[in-house]
Amino acid sequence: MAQTPLTVTVTGAAGQIGYALLFRIASGQLLGGGRRVKLRLLEIPAAVRAAEGTALELDDCAFPLLAGVDVFDDPKQAFEGANVALLVGARPRTKGMERGDLLAANGGIFKPQGEAINAGAAPDIKVLVVGNPANTNALIAQAHAPDVPADRFTAMTRLDHNRAIAQLARKLQVTVGQVKKLTIWGNHSATQYPDVFHAEVDGRPAAELIGDRSWLADEFIPRVAKRGAEIIEVRGASSAASAASAAIDHVHDWINGTPEGDWTSAAIVSDGSYGVPAGLISSFPVVARDGRFEIVQGLDVDEFSRQRIDASVAELQEERTAVQGLGLL
Ligand code: NAD
Ligand code: LMR
Repeated sequence: MAQTPLTVTVTGAAGQIGYALLFRIASGQLLGGGRRVKLRLLEIPAAVRAAEGTALELDDCAFPLLAGVDVFDDPKQAFEGANVALLVGARPRTKGMERGDLLAANGGIFKPQGEAINAGAAPDIKVLVVGNPANTNALIAQAHAPDVPADRFTAMTRLDHNRAIAQLARKLQVTVGQVKKLTIWGNHSATQYPDVFHAEVDGRPAAELIGDRSWLADEFIPRVAKRGAEIIEVRGASSAASAASAAIDHVHDWINGTPEGDWTSAAIVSDGSYGVPAGLISSFPVVARDGRFEIVQGLDVDEFSRQRIDASVAELQEERTAVQGLGLL
């Protein structure tokens, strides 16, 4: 008998990321395992028509795994029965802005969405927040979903993780598949810390292969941390297809597990590991097993790394204080 389809809700469905994401979800790449999918799309009223147009195109692809598409402008309806929720809908930054500048503009979106998830999502709901500032928006949504286990709320640092792998592979002239165990710590912002000190290339320590610490401090870390701004500068718009691809990777691994002998990065609710205050949504090295992310434990953190992790975590605490001030927490 055919499996019951899983329901995936995508907000901001008519946006740039939405357009790059929906066709990949419908083709089966998000859930994996040949699972069928029902899409529920959420947009603001002014963009519902455009989302309906995308739904027409989804029909036209005749994806065998797509079991239906519905479009809503009401969060309560959109999250009804959702097994997976991708919270993409939010304003992107433009040139000269930092992602934190979006707090006031976007934070308000995530309170009603958290409430709607709490009210009607499926018991196994998994939430990925992509809309910026992603970590703190995830914290807002999670705070307004008291009946949902907190560990179901995550924010996306997989794009940073993928960017870091690509930069490291280029430097060492290896393929991306040879690079393992890289970590993004902290906030999805310019303070994030891409950490190569546990990374391996074909089992050899990446840091030894790099040799030169000044490349890390002066080129690699700022390049990865500021890549979003570089894309905005060069492309004239914020990253879209690469962000959609990272969202697919994040949820696919969460559901299907991370490969043995490797880990990935995701912003998840801290349990106090590595000195990150419990309750903050911060990026960690994680493995996924049985549908849950677990923080990789026992890694050495030297002074170089400690300072950078602490700086990013301090920024997350400032963002939390700012949204408390806005009445969103
Ligand atoms: P976009 O402007 O093209 O699309 C955003 C869409 O969200 C629009 O269609 C808008 O109508 C919709 N929207 C706004 N408020 C909404 C609401 N309350 N409910 C439902 N939909 C709503 O933007 P984009 O390029 O698709 O980017 C979306 C967000 O993702 C931005 O905040 C951007 O900064 C962020 N982003 C995050 C990452 C990451 O790595 N975490 C990467 C890239 C972009
Ligand atoms: C990115 O990292 O590309 C996104 O968060 C968009 C941005 O504002 O940088």
